[in-house]
Amino acid sequence: MIGIQGVSFKDKKVLIRVDFNVPITDEGVITDDWRIRRSLPTIQKVTQDRGIAILLSHFGRPKDGYERRYSLSRLLPVLSNLLQQPIRFASSCIGAAVQEQIGMLEPGHILLLENVRFHAEETLEDSNFARGLAALADVYINEAFGAIHRNHASTSLLPTYFKERYAGYLLQQEIAAIDRLFSKEEAPVVAIMGGSKLVDKAKPIEGLMRYVDHILIGGGLVLPFYHAGQAKQLVYTETEAIASRLFGVLRNSHCQLWLPTDVLTAPEMDKQAMLSTASLAHMPCNANIVDIGPAAQAHFAAQILQAKTILWAGPMGVFEWEQCVAGTVAIAQAIAQATAQGAYSIVGGGDTAAAVKQIGYENQVSYISTGGGALLAYIAADRKLPSLEALKE
Ligand code: 3PG
Repeated sequence: MIGIQGVSFKDKKVLIRVDFNVPITDEGVITDDWRIRRSLPTIQKVTQDRGIAILLSHFGRPKDGYERRYSLSRLLPVLSNLLQQPIRFASSCIGAAVQEQIGMLEPGHILLLENVRFHAEETLEDSNFARGLAALADVYINEAFGAIHRNHASTSLLPTYFKERYAGYLLQQEIAAIDRLFSKEEAPVVAIMGGSKLVDKAKPIEGLMRYVDHILIGGGLVLPFYHAGQAKQLVYTETEAIASRLFGVLRNSHCQLWLPTDVLTAPEMDKQAMLSTASLAHMPCNANIVDIGPAAQAHFAAQILQAKTILWAGPMGVFEWEQCVAGTVAIAQAIAQATAQGAYSIVGGGDTAAAVKQIGYENQVSYISTGGGALLAYIAADRKLPSLEALKE
């Protein structure tokens, strides 16, 4: 991938594929503008060079064309405030009218195009659609790390229609941060994997087993691994079968996988439920794991404190419930301490970033990614994704 450093965009029309897929309330309040903020330096580089910045993004998952709540026009006030200049808006992202609008722009101007997902051709990776988008500009920059795992027209196909195609600052930073997990220079490498569904984490865990020294398992991933590890188990559920396959991969790696020694359980997924702590072997039948227990917190913290490189993707339990936050806090504290001692720590996006922010540790980790699914998909694909390959020469 070629970065934008040292490139001049003077008098160029530059199509920047950003990921402005941010959470927004019905009243139009953006509750987390992190992704937008992180892409500002690339946009500013283009305008300061006296180029024209044309911003292209998806927003939500509209099903059938235009939907008011997914219109990117809703981001205009925040965007112009952050960039401290007026942002023009095009009510489509493709076609003669948009080309005409771009023709009237001057160097330094910024144009935000309407949601690319209002066109079904985007997710279908339609080549005519990609060609139509390519007709808008001279240069393509991918700054949409959060969408690098999508093989869509604007991510994996569009760059191939440009001679000049680059990775923006944010995309480069994200890749450089994750690649530290694979370098083997700063070992031991510890990954903490939590969250609710093993099916979403199975491929990344498999990818990590090739490179990291320890994987600590929390949240909804615990039980499938525990059951799969029981020799007496003859019939596996789907997730247990996934966990069982992962144990097979584990046996051929140098990596060690750790389950929590004890867990906090709830008879039903209800905030008011009576919680109890038990070892995995003695937890009540059909109970739900809502956090890791105190012994597991101490064990995981000790593992984290001896790490030189750390990845955290997924909370340890239902951290949104006050009585289930202790495991997630213990992990955040240990990572903060390890980071203060010189370790490099990366926090995966989505729920984990929200957890770290909620409990006030966002300034005590080395890097918070803007991508959740994207980060895990990059690891799962052994760092080869079509959208990134398309940026290479
Ligand atoms: C995200 O929020 O994870 C990215 O913007 C990708 O969005 P998607 O899952 O709708 O493709």
